[in-house]
Amino acid sequence: METTFGIQTGDRYYDRLDVRSFGESTPMYRGMVRRLIGPASAHIVASPFTSTEPATVVIGGFHSPDSVHEADGFVAEVAECHPYSLIAVDRNSAPIQRLTDLEAHVTPLQGNLQTLDIGGKHIDLMFLDFTLNFMSPEELSAFFTHVKNLLAKDGLVIAAVDTVRSLRGLFTGHVVKKCFDGMPRHEYTEGSLVEHAKKAGLKCVMVVEWRVSRSLCISGLAFSRMDSGFPEDSDARIFPELNPIR
Ligand SMILES: C[S@@+](CC[C@H](N)C(=O)[O-])C[C@H]1O[C@@H](n2cnc3c(N)ncnc32)[C@H](O)[C@@H]1O
Repeated sequence: METTFGIQTGDRYYDRLDVRSFGESTPMYRGMVRRLIGPASAHIVASPFTSTEPATVVIGGFHSPDSVHEADGFVAEVAECHPYSLIAVDRNSAPIQRLTDLEAHVTPLQGNLQTLDIGGKHIDLMFLDFTLNFMSPEELSAFFTHVKNLLAKDGLVIAAVDTVRSLRGLFTGHVVKKCFDGMPRHEYTEGSLVEHAKKAGLKCVMVVEWRVSRSLCISGLAFSRMDSGFPEDSDARIFPELNPIR
C-alpha cells in the first residue's frame, strides 16, 4: 500500500501543547462499543467484526505515536479474537515519521481524511480522536460524504469531540477558536455534527457525553451507513458508569 494519498496540504500542527492521547478517551470508547456491539447491548443487531475477512480499522488523525499503540490495544480488546488490520492516518508528516516499532498489521498513511484512499478496502471501524475539531464545516461535509462510500455495511465511525459549551455556539451550532499557533479549532454542537452526517447520507447511532473531570466534558458520537443494522439514535445521554468525577 502507498504511504501517502490525495492532495498534500503541507504540515499543519494541532494543539501541540495540549494533546490528549487516544488512551484518555478509551473508557468512553469502551462504553460506546460495549453498548453497540458488546455484552452491554440488549441484543447484538450488527457488528463490524462479523465478516470472515480481517476487519479494517482506521485511526483518523493522531498526533502522538502513543495514540496508535493505545488504539491498537483497544481494538485487540474489542475485536476479541477477530483478526484486523489497523491503518493510522494523519495529514501531517511528523506523526507518521514518529511511528516506529509498529506491528506488522499496522500501516501508517499520510493524507487528508476527506480524500482517504485505502486501496478499495472497506472500513469496518474508524476512530476520530478529536480530529473533527480540526475540520471546517466544508471539510466536515466532504469527510462524511467521502467516508460514507468507504464504510462497510455494518461499519462504524466513532468520534471523540470537544463540543460547544458557549451560549453563542449553542445558538449558531459552531464556533471557531484558535490554537496557540493560530490553527483554527472548530467546536460544533452534537446536533450540528449529526446534521452534517445526515446530509451526507449517514445515520447517527449513538451520542454520549462523558464528564472526564469537573471541568471537562467530552462528547462521543457514532455513525453508520443508512442501511446498517444499527438503529438510529441521536439522543445524547450521560453514561453513569463513565462519570468518575475527579
Ligand atoms: C488533536 S490531534 C489528535 C489528538 C489525538 N488524541 C492523538 O494524539 O492521537 C488531531 C490530529 O488530526 C490530524 N488531522 C486533522 N485534520 C485532519 C484531516 N482532515 N485529515 C487527516 N488528519 C487530520 C492532525 O494532523 C492532528 O495530528
